[in-house]
Amino acid sequence: MKAKEKEIVNDIELEMENIKEEKAEVKIMDLPGVGAATAEKLEAAGYDSVLSVAVSTIGGLVDASGVGENVARKMIQAARDNMDMGFESGTDVFNRRQKIEKISFGCSNLDNLLGGGFETGAITECFGEFGSGKTQIAHALAVGCQVQDPTAVAVFIDTENTFRPDRIIDFAKGAGIDPDKALKNVKVARAYNSDHQMLLAEKVGDLVKKGLNVKVVIVDSLTAHFRAEFIGRGTLAVRQQKLNKHMHELLRVADMNNVLVYVTNQVMSKPDVFFGDPTAAIGGHIVAHASTFRIYLRKGKKGSRVAKLIDSPNLPDGEAMFYLETDSIKDF
Ligand code: GTP
Ligand code: MG
Repeated sequence: MKAKEKEIVNDIELEMENIKEEKAEVKIMDLPGVGAATAEKLEAAGYDSVLSVAVSTIGGLVDASGVGENVARKMIQAARDNMDMGFESGTDVFNRRQKIEKISFGCSNLDNLLGGGFETGAITECFGEFGSGKTQIAHALAVGCQVQDPTAVAVFIDTENTFRPDRIIDFAKGAGIDPDKALKNVKVARAYNSDHQMLLAEKVGDLVKKGLNVKVVIVDSLTAHFRAEFIGRGTLAVRQQKLNKHMHELLRVADMNNVLVYVTNQVMSKPDVFFGDPTAAIGGHIVAHASTFRIYLRKGKKGSRVAKLIDSPNLPDGEAMFYLETDSIKDF
């Protein structure tokens, strides 16, 4: 069994590799009047995408790349022609909202806390100390979506090497579905650094285009790479900028494909807090604002776990207690 699991994970990694290779989108280099030298200058000045050119001013491009005004105008026009600016009708938005689903793994206390389950089309952030159950919930969601819909696929972007095939098998057995099939329908990709993590998030749309019924996208952990790569006060602004971009990409993935995006986050201690809980999620407001649902997890009495919903726009704040078991996540 172990060898087989390995094989499956390898297959999946290969699949993600192939997707990385297929790149058809228009690059800055493809715009009229842009040669290698101009592209390099533009990049150095922070123009890293066709979108950044499309929304630039003529003067901005002239200053950045030294091209004439006419060329700059043509570049902007071509960039704009190439952009799908993403307008859609209110009816489209309404129809999409009608399709929102609630994903559950059979823990009714958690389902009730979340108004019926984890919502698709939104980001749910789960933060809490080590061992509080963030990664276990990720695995349970990857199986839970398949219990509800046998064709469902879960994408697991693994930044800390915490994906465990055996936990998928355990939960699948607990839920009474075929463990082999459950494993096959989890697409795992290891993210080696924050840029790689951001790229993988952008590639989820390709999986959907290939016809996979992606229902859940997991990023475990959302912040570990960012935290490790940007150390010290001086780098905080850059870190937050990148994290912001990543969160917006994940929001887009959730919204466009009606998938549940589940991200985990560590906490850091706040030594200045004497009352209440002296911990705060990493990433601050940027992560908090982009997440529709925020769950704070902590260890409770008798080995239980306590989930608390924070600042939900349409659900009452409350708490849910549960146990992490081998084959399931059970009510306390
Ligand atoms: P960090 O990633 O370290 O921040 O923690 P986390 O919040 O992701 O913790 P995780 O979800 O990995 O939870 C770990 C806990 O899950 C363990 O301490 C166990 O209590 C429980 N757990 C993990 N695997 C099993 C299992 O096979 N059986 C049982 N009964 N419990 C398990
Ligand atoms: Mg974890």
